[in-house]
Formats: sequence, C-alpha cells, structure tokens
Amino acid sequence: MKHTDIELILKTDEFVGKTATVCGWVRTARDSKNVAFLALNDGTTLNHLQIVIDKNGALEVSPEAMKLGASLKVTGEVVKNTNNGTNEINACEITVLGVCPPDYPLQKKFQKLETLREMPHIRVRTNTFNAVFRVRSVLAAAIHRFFQERGYVYINTPLITGSDCEGAGEMFQVTTIGYSTDYKSEEEYYADDFFGKKTGLSVSGQLEGEVAAMGLGKIYTFGPSFRAENSNTQRHVAEFWHVEPEIAFCELPDLIEIAEDMIKYLIKDYMEKCPDELAFFEQRFEKGLTEKLLSVVNNDFAVVDYTEAIDILKKADVKFEYPVEWGCDLQSEHERYITEKVYNKPVFLINYPKGIKSFYMKQNPDGKTVAATDLLVPGVGEIIGGSEREADYDKLIAAMEEKGMSKEGYEFYLDLRKYGSVPHAGFGLGFERMIMYCTGMANIRDVILYPRTVGNIR
Ligand code: 4AD
Repeated sequence: MKHTDIELILKTDEFVGKTATVCGWVRTARDSKNVAFLALNDGTTLNHLQIVIDKNGALEVSPEAMKLGASLKVTGEVVKNTNNGTNEINACEITVLGVCPPDYPLQKKFQKLETLREMPHIRVRTNTFNAVFRVRSVLAAAIHRFFQERGYVYINTPLITGSDCEGAGEMFQVTTIGYSTDYKSEEEYYADDFFGKKTGLSVSGQLEGEVAAMGLGKIYTFGPSFRAENSNTQRHVAEFWHVEPEIAFCELPDLIEIAEDMIKYLIKDYMEKCPDELAFFEQRFEKGLTEKLLSVVNNDFAVVDYTEAIDILKKADVKFEYPVEWGCDLQSEHERYITEKVYNKPVFLINYPKGIKSFYMKQNPDGKTVAATDLLVPGVGEIIGGSEREADYDKLIAAMEEKGMSKEGYEFYLDLRKYGSVPHAGFGLGFERMIMYCTGMANIRDVILYPRTVGNIR
C-alpha cells in the first residue's frame, strides 16, 4: 500500500504544500459543526498526525472513521498548523481500512500498566509501549554495533542444551514424552526421550560462548535465556534476552572496562536516537531520568570489593530484612542500598565468596573468593553478572567436585582447559533490565512483548 510514514510528514518539511497519503489508527477524534480533527498514529513515531476535515467541503466522512482505534488511509495536502507550526493534513479522501467497535479496550486516555498487561496484543497501541518497543529496538541495534565495531563475532548458541551453565537447577526441561511409571528408572525414561538424555532450555549461552571464543577470540551472543525461577518479582521473567560477550586473553579488570564502555555506548546512542521517547519517560515514569543517564555517561562507575560492601552494609544505619554476614548472597535490599544510598551510581561489585558463585569462575589466590563481578545500578539492581573464567583444568575439576557436580555433559568445557587454555572472561547483560534502567519502567513485564512469569502465560 503506497503511503508515507507519519514520522516523515512530521519531522521534515519536504511534504509541505504537497499531497500525501498516510495510514494509521485513530487515537483521538474531535467533531464540531464545521470541522473535525483526527489524531492519527501509524507506530512510526510517538507523535500523532492531525488530520483536518472540512465538513463544508466535498469530502463525506463515514462515522466509522471517527471511532477510536479505527484504521484509516488518508490522502490530502500537508500544511503547517498556523498556531503551533506542526505539519498536518487537510484531508481530501479518507478510506476506512478497519472499523473499530465501541468495546475497543483503549477508550480511556490513560490506563494502568497492570490493566494493559492483561492485553499484550492491544497495549502496543499505546504511547507507553510505542516508546518502550522503539527504545528496545534502538538498544538492540546499538548492542550489535558496539560489538561489531570492536571486532567481536556474533554467535548463536544453542537454546536446547544438556548442561546447566549456572548449576542452579533452574532449567526448563525439554521433552517429547511424559514420565510414566512404566519406566524403571529416571535413566531409562531419559534414554527413551527425544535426545536420549535429560535436556533443558539454556539458562545462558556462556559455556558454548567460551567454546567459540577459544577459536574466534572475541564473541558475543544475543538471544533468549530461560529460567524456571520461582521469583515473582519486578525484575524476573522466565524468558529473557541475554547479551553475553566472551573474550579470550582477558582478565577481570579488562572485562569491567568493556562492560562500562558498553553501558555508556548504549545510553549515549539511546539518548541521541530517541529524544522524544526519553522526554516521554522523563515526564511519565522517572523524574530526573535524563540527568541520571547523562551522569552515567559522564562519570566513572564505582568498583567495590564484596568484602568492603559487607563492611558498609554492617555499618549501615538500616534494618535489613535479611541479615548480612561475609559469605551471604546479597539480596536486592542490600544491592540497592550500596548502589542507591552509598554511591548513587552504577557499581561493579567484585571478588565474591566462591561458595555463592558458579563453578566456572576464576579462583582468586586467597582461596576464598572468585574473580566475579556484578554490575548494580540504582533503581534496578543487578543488570550484569560476569567473571573471569577458571582456566586451570585441575582447579576447575576441584570446583566442580566441591559443588557436587558430575563431569558428564561438561567434557567439552573441560577440553577447553586441556588444549591451549587461556585467561578469558565474559559477562551477561539482562537486556530487559537494561531497558528498565534506560526508560524508568519499574516492572520487567512492561519492557517485553509477552512476559513469561511463574503461573502466567498469555
Ligand atoms: O548473573 P547471571 O545469572 O549470569 C549468567 O548467566 C552468566 N552465565 C553470564 C555470563 O557470564 N555470560 O545472569 C546475567 C544477567 C543478570 O545480571 C540479569 O541482568 C539477567 O541476566 N537475568 C535475568 N533477567 C530477567 N529475568 C531473569 N529471571 C534473569 N536472570 C538473570
């Protein structure tokens, strides 16, 4: 269907004085005796195009064209509105492409985000989700650009896997047959299943990412990860998008530098490409968002040792719900205190106790901690988890044994340490959490088209 994007009509003056055809959905309709106004949106911009209908002219407008949510094709002259200087169209032809009955759910100007979550197929037609998904798209492109410009190879790691990367038992099982008591043992059941062994959806592409990095040097993945966590929080979904660079000949300080550069690059690009969306989020969802993001871009992130963080938390004049002791896993309340109250900027926490981290992390010489890092940001908490990897075969085996892991399924991973092992490191950025940070959206369910959470699938 030949037509012009509303974004182009609004942003440039090349159409002023000319005839143009646009398509879109009616966002508002105002009628009076002599003139009617429609606000049309086609999704190409947050802004609506005003369609002016001269009711004394030759154009006969069907009442269906004035209904909220109706889809139209409009042809007319593009003119400048004399009051506000924006471009609009004086309609000479209007075709109703799709009528919209009064039970259309978006009759009210503002709807609660919770209400909109009940209708993911409709909420994309609101300004909020128009802005969220455009920012999501711009950030996705920026992620590829950041890594491609620096010589990283984009790798697609498998989604179905036999090895649990994080070892936290959060894998969704992949099966084509249900378990039945006809099987004498679990082994017999899995042997009969599609792959002949127990398999699940990948929680992270890291292990296979390391395989690729051991030949290609610098790689990144950008795809979905799945976690069957029973966490009904504002920051967890069962299916999230994961950005995972893996870099050979890289140690923890190098990794931290790459992560900081990447976050700054993404924010700069977003601020440059999405000024309208940023202004919208600032106005509707987070006062001070622009200033916060500018400050992120213009200042160094903090780097804080886990042990130091524990000291800070112990001295804090706050009653935490979960007690703090060296060796404990930090809860969201602790992470938020560190990043929001103490530093008020992004913080890389480093050198965690080995007992609370995954088997693959490089063991520090102190014998107690690993060269891991989480990036915590105000408002969202952890957005990145990463580490230098244990490159020593024997130490890796020892860590697996300590955690009671079987070597089965990890032979390939151990081989990487056998054949020309190198210091290497990588991290995982939760894409949805990054979008939350950039937009001020407080709930992860509002930055992904179809959120999958425990007990809820649409
Ligand atoms: O800290 P995590 O578990 O690290 C890993 O998976 C490593 N294998 C990554 C690596 O080193 N290549 O997860 C990384 C990030 C978290 O910081 C968080 O942003 C996001 O993934 N994440 C989730 N996001 C949304 N919902 C969930 N359930 C998430 N679980 C992790």
